[in-house]
Amino acid sequence: MKLLKVIYLGKQPPKRTIVQTKMEAAIVRPYKEGKPVTGHKSFNWVQRADNKQWVHAYNSPEFIRDTLGTPLVQNLRTTGQSKKIVVDFCGGEGLVTDVLQQFLKSQGINATVINSDLSERNLGRHRKQNPEGVVVRADSAKAPYAPNSLDAATVRYGIHYFSKKAQSQLMKEIYKAVKPGGVVIVYHPHHQSTFVPHVKAMAAAAGMSYAERRTQNYFPTEEEFARMTSKVGFEVSDPQVVAEHWYSPESYADRWGGDNKEKRREIQKKVKRIFDKAASQKKYAEEFKRQGKRILKPGHHIMFILRKPE
Ligand SMILES: C[S@@+](CC[C@H](N)C(=O)[O-])C[C@H]1O[C@@H](n2cnc3c(N)ncnc32)[C@H](O)[C@@H]1O
Repeated sequence: MKLLKVIYLGKQPPKRTIVQTKMEAAIVRPYKEGKPVTGHKSFNWVQRADNKQWVHAYNSPEFIRDTLGTPLVQNLRTTGQSKKIVVDFCGGEGLVTDVLQQFLKSQGINATVINSDLSERNLGRHRKQNPEGVVVRADSAKAPYAPNSLDAATVRYGIHYFSKKAQSQLMKEIYKAVKPGGVVIVYHPHHQSTFVPHVKAMAAAAGMSYAERRTQNYFPTEEEFARMTSKVGFEVSDPQVVAEHWYSPESYADRWGGDNKEKRREIQKKVKRIFDKAASQKKYAEEFKRQGKRILKPGHHIMFILRKPE
């Protein structure tokens, strides 16, 4: 608690009213090396850009270490031996937070990694999984951290939960909280040409309209994100492609259909119709042809390293 008092803006941290829920077992499925994981339970599988291995986008500790961990260590090493504070914004169930905490320790870096998320349920799962973990319940776009108090920050799979305008607010808040010379590592699935059918398929599977889905989940293009963050004041790295994601009608059915066979069939049918329609349109046709219509590669997972100038 002492640590939190230092970084909070003179206010007491919000009362922790975390509901502890049973940690769900990770749903992963064995995969054949080199082959796309496109069927049942495949929604969150990605293919790494460096070694072409298929990994579960959320659960793979190696993937988290190799993507966010390595540049984080490199950057923290340049700023002396002092105790570091890193905030994992939108940290959810704390998968990234915990892997980074352990990785920094194993690399001899004295640091506390804080999971900062709005969801009581997700923070509760993190607490249950790791009672030692430091969690803060807060809206990342109104983050209550003192200016220039953080050595680094990370955001993985968090950006698209904010509207376009709120994304800029979020990055401004993070900029304020990070020390000059500090880095912010942002990992995010960005747009590619086939992204629109993907969002349409997600909307249909979730029983929403495309417009609703677009308002809730705004995925910026790489250029847009780079422009916005440099306007905020960051020095922005070249975007680095770390993985590609692929989807099939079965994967949407699995993500939104649950155990309901009827619902799953319905979703598969709807998504297939969306894929077929897109495949007949010139702007998507080539990509669909390459992937064989039933598999959609809608985007790259991109990492940006943002630095607050000294
Ligand atoms: C897809 S999860 C990603 C979790 C984690 N970063 C990871 O990669 O495993 C997105 C998280 O963003 C959180 N979130 C969404 N809007 C938020 C907000 N305004 N402030 C803080 N967290 C938010 C959600 O509660 C959720 O836990």
